[in-house]
Amino acid sequence: MVSGKFIVFEGIDGAGKTTQIDLVAKNLKEQGLQVLCTREPGGTRIGEMLRKFLLDPANGDINPRTEAFLYAADRSQHVTEVILPALEEGKIVICDRYLYSTIAYQGWGRGIDTGFLTSLNGLASDGLVPDRVILLDIDVDTGLQRALGERLPDRLEIEKNAFFQRVRQGYLEQAKLHPEIFRVIQAGADKMEVNRRVLAALDWR
Ligand code: TYD
Repeated sequence: MVSGKFIVFEGIDGAGKTTQIDLVAKNLKEQGLQVLCTREPGGTRIGEMLRKFLLDPANGDINPRTEAFLYAADRSQHVTEVILPALEEGKIVICDRYLYSTIAYQGWGRGIDTGFLTSLNGLASDGLVPDRVILLDIDVDTGLQRALGERLPDRLEIEKNAFFQRVRQGYLEQAKLHPEIFRVIQAGADKMEVNRRVLAALDWR
């Protein structure tokens, strides 16, 4: 039996997911709640190996379908090993990226059929759908500037601006398709203002 709550953060690179997850986790813990923060790709020993491979700019020759399968493999491991057990223990699970990243990046970004990816996602997640998806929406130029700062881009960040425009659009379309779980938050504002909006969007209680 699943008695916890499952919150997912989504958005293009540089939307500020990491900062907002840290702030929300702190807030929920201060309320005495048990919180587990995790991420995709990653979150398990096998997943962290897949993550290293997926983000390595040396693997630029990866086929888009292979890429989709590896994100799905990571998700399958993550759901069974980490997310479901934590939800069964009644924890609040906050996950940095989930199913919707695959539809946005591999579907809208790379052009893989989204119907196929939805089936793949269903298999990988064992049908587990979050209680809330926080989509941090930001314009592509600001996001990429924030993401990169001084560091070198990883394999996905090397993509052109047009790729991220499609990814952003893919997220906004998914939010329209699933209004019952998605909340779209304008993430260009000051981080504490964005945090206020995120907390207000965790309104299932
Ligand atoms: P990460 O460093 O976690 O990005 P961020 O800090 O912006 O969340 O890198 C994850 C990258 O993997 C990111 O560029 C999005 C991509 N990704 C996919 O393309 N498909 C997926 O299903 C997932 C989970 C991530």
